[in-house]
Amino acid sequence: MASGDPTPDGVVLWTRVSVAAGATVPVAWTVATDAALADPVASGSATATPGTDHTVHVTVSGLLPATTYWYGFTSAGEHSTVGRTRTLPAPDGPGGRMRLGVVCCAHYATGYFNAYARLAEQDVDLVLHLGDYIYEAEAKREKWTRDHRPRGRCLTLPDYRARHGQYKSDPDLQLLHARHPVVAVWDDHELAGNAWWDNAAGHDPRHDGDWPRRRAAAVRAYREWMPSGLPDPSDPFRIWRTVRLGPLADLVILDTRLAGRERPVAGRRPVVGVRRRNRTLLSREQWAWLEEELAGETGRWTLLASQVVVAPIHLLAAGGAVGRRLGATGGGLIVNSGQWDGYPSERDRLLGLLARRRGGALVLSGDLHSSWVARLAAEGGRGEPLAAEFTVPAVSAPTFARALAPKVRGARSVLEWAIHRANPHVAWVDTAGHGYVVLDVTAERIEGQWWHVNRVGKRTETERLAATWWLSRGDPNPRLGSPAPGRA
Ligand SMILES: [Fe+2]
Repeated sequence: MASGDPTPDGVVLWTRVSVAAGATVPVAWTVATDAALADPVASGSATATPGTDHTVHVTVSGLLPATTYWYGFTSAGEHSTVGRTRTLPAPDGPGGRMRLGVVCCAHYATGYFNAYARLAEQDVDLVLHLGDYIYEAEAKREKWTRDHRPRGRCLTLPDYRARHGQYKSDPDLQLLHARHPVVAVWDDHELAGNAWWDNAAGHDPRHDGDWPRRRAAAVRAYREWMPSGLPDPSDPFRIWRTVRLGPLADLVILDTRLAGRERPVAGRRPVVGVRRRNRTLLSREQWAWLEEELAGETGRWTLLASQVVVAPIHLLAAGGAVGRRLGATGGGLIVNSGQWDGYPSERDRLLGLLARRRGGALVLSGDLHSSWVARLAAEGGRGEPLAAEFTVPAVSAPTFARALAPKVRGARSVLEWAIHRANPHVAWVDTAGHGYVVLDVTAERIEGQWWHVNRVGKRTETERLAATWWLSRGDPNPRLGSPAPGRA
């Protein structure tokens, strides 16, 4: 069972009942002020049906703001384990401090979810999941740690449902859900590798069938199996939304993967195609909403969640006339045309909006399977810093270093040295760590802690604080903090 999308007076509770395929069964739920559920404050009943794969969503209301609750389900005399959740502070309530866990990219077949278990133990108010909560396919050329179920790629509704079911059976993911409410957004692998609205690099209609049908199946299974509400009940594809974290911050969550995304430049020569600068990443409707969210100074922090990285990431610096002739954008040859690098006009527009927040904006991103801190600036990162970006590492998917550095000693250091050389706006990078980030937010300061686990090939309790970076309100330049010793 799990909880998600908390508000100041409620939360979404989720469970799934294991019964015969055709059965319809009643499910009772309880929310209480104590872990024994002896002091209930809300209760009710729902129905688990085959139509939703026996998953159940309950939207609870009438709770108190910034308060911890416990919840549980009962069906046919069987009790679920008891979960803990927490409501958000009221918009006009006391600000104080909020702590958020941020994660992405948990590949079941390539590693254990140690990062989820460690984050479960952290004292956070909620967990933001930036996507790749499941992987629809095996990682190419990677050794498997565990077998995926079903075998092979997910193409149909039963495939996606079974894959979600397998991920939810993982004890470390279960622990995370039992301890903290989750606010989640999809990236591509909830659907297919490098997806955009009209297709995906990981989808070949000649063999994989109709894309809209596959996309609908993936999103339906996601809706069934995630502890999330629908920002627009009439539109299951709408996932972009704002979560107001009391008077402290607005968590503005984009959909950079589906709604509005045009096909990225494909193949091995991404820089050439990016010359067409007006490729769209966000839909017109999403831009209109974002313009409103970032209209002016609110006194709150803006935490902008983007699945894909906003900062330019060049593999090679190539500025001036030579770079232009090569087709380089913003001063270099880019690594990945699927991130904002592939949509340069849209990025300029986003930076213009973030600049209005006058050092009160922080971008949170994932997808790159590595840890980054960057200054966001116009002119491909070379202008005046306008905002900062924190990029969170993968929970267990193969790392950036594994993908890009040859498997020889010292290659990772060379890769990171080359990144710094070609990207002076990158303040810090670690291409090899798996883990999660904890954000500690107060009115004046945001501190980000990058916790890295020591391995994913085995279940382990060892982690270390790889880095701490912080932001002062009004100053978009992130500052390095001093790392503390590991907790385990
Ligand atoms: Fe990923």
